[in-house]
Amino acid sequence: MNESVVERLTQANSLLVITGAGISAESGIPTFRGADGLWRNYRAEDLATLDAFERDPVTVWEWYDWRRGIIGRAEPNPGHLAIKDLEDMFENFLLITQNVDGLHGRTGIRNIVEIHGNLWRTKCTREGKISMLMDVPLRSIPPRCDCGAVLRPDVVWFGESIPSYALDLSFNVLEQCDTLIVVGTSGVVYPVASFPQTVKDNGGYVVEVNVEPTPISAIADASLYGNSGDILPMLVKWLKERRK
Ligand code: OAD
Repeated sequence: MNESVVERLTQANSLLVITGAGISAESGIPTFRGADGLWRNYRAEDLATLDAFERDPVTVWEWYDWRRGIIGRAEPNPGHLAIKDLEDMFENFLLITQNVDGLHGRTGIRNIVEIHGNLWRTKCTREGKISMLMDVPLRSIPPRCDCGAVLRPDVVWFGESIPSYALDLSFNVLEQCDTLIVVGTSGVVYPVASFPQTVKDNGGYVVEVNVEPTPISAIADASLYGNSGDILPMLVKWLKERRK
């Protein structure tokens, strides 16, 4: 582990962690842009849009049903658990995740923004009512609301706006945070892709954790390459030793 990274992290006053699909890869959940990211030859960008859903809600829901099946069997991995440890160690802490799998929530983490929503929630396409839908597999596709309208997953699709409460909270914390750890994201989907630069512009320190270089590597103060399930627990261990 890089000594100076640990040293710098011990001095953090306000820690922000950002995660993407890579944090859940070791739980067996395919990433979007990895080799196993295609489903029936569709890319995420072909399915995660309102257009695709309006054209073919059955195919889009079949994709979510497949992902819900994988996620329903998955457990948080040591990377998720290490982020919960970080929350317990830092007074000012927020996790912004782009993941909709809900695995961070299952570690008991409290300070979390699921900026792209959560695939266990649904939204009625007529009334906008939000509900939980835990059935795996789904009993009928597409699932319907009591009012008869088709339900959609309560996630943010390409071209859609992030709910203002999630965006406002994220921007508030981004302005204050002096340290960012960005984990397992390819750094190509906005607005989150721009967050590391915002922290840098405000004079903050950015550490990236990923299995390979990304566009974030060019602006990060340090990049730690390897599985987040290995690196993050090691980071937590070293931080705890430093604080003794
Ligand atoms: P991607 O699939 O684009 O990127 C996953 C990243 O995780 C890549 O940079 C991998 O190198 C890295 N990675 C893979 N395994 C890892 C491991 N074990 N440890 C650490 N890193 C690992 O996923 P995201 O960046 O999350 O949005 O994608 C962003 C958004 O695009 C998603 O939230 C989703 C997607 O389409 C919507 O659906 C709106």
